[in-house]
Amino acid sequence: MDDFKKIIYSVLSIFVIGIVVWVGIVFVNSCGFDLTCAKISKPVGLTPIPTLIPATLPAASRFLPTPSVQEVVEPVASADGVARPSNPGGPGEAVDLTGDSAEGAKIFAANCIPCHGAEGVGGIANFGSTDGVVPALNPIDPTLIDPTYKIYASNLALFLQHGSKPEGTSPIFVMPAWGDLGTLTQQQIADVIAYIISLNK
Ligand code: HEC
Repeated sequence: MDDFKKIIYSVLSIFVIGIVVWVGIVFVNSCGFDLTCAKISKPVGLTPIPTLIPATLPAASRFLPTPSVQEVVEPVASADGVARPSNPGGPGEAVDLTGDSAEGAKIFAANCIPCHGAEGVGGIANFGSTDGVVPALNPIDPTLIDPTYKIYASNLALFLQHGSKPEGTSPIFVMPAWGDLGTLTQQQIADVIAYIISLNK
């Protein structure tokens, strides 16, 4: 009878010890040696609307505000109506240099005539563009002209530095980025700007 009791007690105590050890292992595994068990309650990011469940997936695009990047990428016309190139960027160093219009005439003859015509008079067709022609530089778009030389030069430099893709489905002629590509030096850009300005006093 005593033997039988012993077996029952030992089976029971092994069972209880087993449960305690198992719970201990599970606890230490998920909480570490920390009674507050801060590990399992991850800090919850608050939503702007406190009643909403914090979301982990990226919000569906229809809930996101339309990015205003569009205006930056295609500043076809600036707020004040001045023509602007499609490519972003500043006027660069060329506007701080003194341009030589005689040098500029040579640079123009060598690089610009195929698209803008001799002396910039234009008339070159540009299929696939909304305008249908490459813009003439003589006379030039009046919005680019400014009584202050540096502003006038900057307006032209933006096109020369970064290039511009005319509006339209697939224009065959695109204004190259002379400055960004390094096809013309900053001094050459200053010279050709001086030449264009001399054509459009
Ligand atoms: C491959 C053809 C091509 C060549 C070469 C070219 N351009 Fe252009 N250029 C264009 C096109 C196309 C536009 C119109 C861009 C637009 O509408 O956004 C343009 C626009 C311009 C503008 C702005 C005029 C306006 O009314 O908006 C200036 C200034 C200009 N080019 C200067 C030059 C100069 C200077 C050269 C030579 C160094 C040159 N381009 C060479 C195609 C060319």
